[in-house]
Amino acid sequence: MKFNELVFSGVQPTGNLHLGNYLGAIVKFVALQQRYSCIYCVVDLHALTQPLSVWGGPKQLAHNTREVIAAYLAAGINPKQSILFNQSQVHQHAELAWVFNCVARMGWLGRMTQFKDKAGKDRENASVGLFTYPTLMAADILVYRATHVPVGEDQKQHLELTRDIAQKFNNDFAESIAALGAGDAFFPLPEPLIQGPATRVMSLRDGTKKMSKSDPSDYSRINLTDDADAIAQKIRKAKTDPEPLPSEEKGLETRPEADNLVGIYAALANTPKPAVLAQFGGGQFSTFKSALVDLAVAKLGPIGAEMKRLVADAAYIDSVLAEGAARAALLADQTMKSVKDIVGFIRR
Ligand code: TYM
Repeated sequence: MKFNELVFSGVQPTGNLHLGNYLGAIVKFVALQQRYSCIYCVVDLHALTQPLSVWGGPKQLAHNTREVIAAYLAAGINPKQSILFNQSQVHQHAELAWVFNCVARMGWLGRMTQFKDKAGKDRENASVGLFTYPTLMAADILVYRATHVPVGEDQKQHLELTRDIAQKFNNDFAESIAALGAGDAFFPLPEPLIQGPATRVMSLRDGTKKMSKSDPSDYSRINLTDDADAIAQKIRKAKTDPEPLPSEEKGLETRPEADNLVGIYAALANTPKPAVLAQFGGGQFSTFKSALVDLAVAKLGPIGAEMKRLVADAAYIDSVLAEGAARAALLADQTMKSVKDIVGFIRR
């Protein structure tokens, strides 16, 4: 079965959008618009999987949802071309997730490292939604029968699970799928797109830890809304080692902090890491850091300013969401009707 090429991805509205979200995901979203039809979602249903203290309650959720859309727009996503919306406005995501809850196995979900990390030691107290997070993520992607999914490295395992769910659904319902005239597979096995020098941006305080929204130290990450002074200060204070930068990538292997900063520079400049080392290798770290400050301020400053301007115009953001949700719902409805026929649900 040949599927139409379609890109889908999402970001959670859990606040503190940072450089990792930008370089690992949002920058890729912008570039992919040139080649594919794209659907970009703010996954507000997923935000609820964490304790209320993490996502901040109803007012904060609405603000954070608008802020993610503002980041999409400020980074260069065109809402007339790509579909932008928030997940809760298209009920088919939750509906398909239920079917997938019945396809996925407990053992599969129990192996997910994100669940283990987020639930921590107190698993009994984690929400059921946190455990089934990946089945909703699979539904997000497959309700559009999307074929390509740009994400950071940390989402690779969830994409593998999405493929397992699609495969098991195709196998379990093979007869029904063939009877519907949908060929030998109803769902595609979506490809993760995880490429480039910044698929895993690390904390500025500890090069062995991922840059994350939940790190208690604000100095561990560059937030997309940070102003020029904050960006400069955080880069200047970023942990490094006393050695000068190496001239070859091999020399970064045992130096996680240096490796991270070189990766960030390469991604922001849209150039490979060896080219960055050819320019700065052998020189003082302080020289490299000054160049990184200039580059980061030049690239991120205008995005942060535009985000703030857009967030202040809630009516505009909400109109983008409503229009995107209407376009998304038309597509999701088609898939869901077929899924109901395949499974044997009687429908109107
Ligand atoms: P979220 O909001 O946690 O992350 C959004 C995107 O940012 C990437 N990312 C990073 N990339 C590089 N370095 C980092 N330090 C870093 N931190 C985060 C994530 O990999 C992600 O691409 N589960 C998804 C949300 C989601 C989704 C989907 C994605 C829900 N349904 C369907 C794709 C398709 C997530 O991690 O969101």
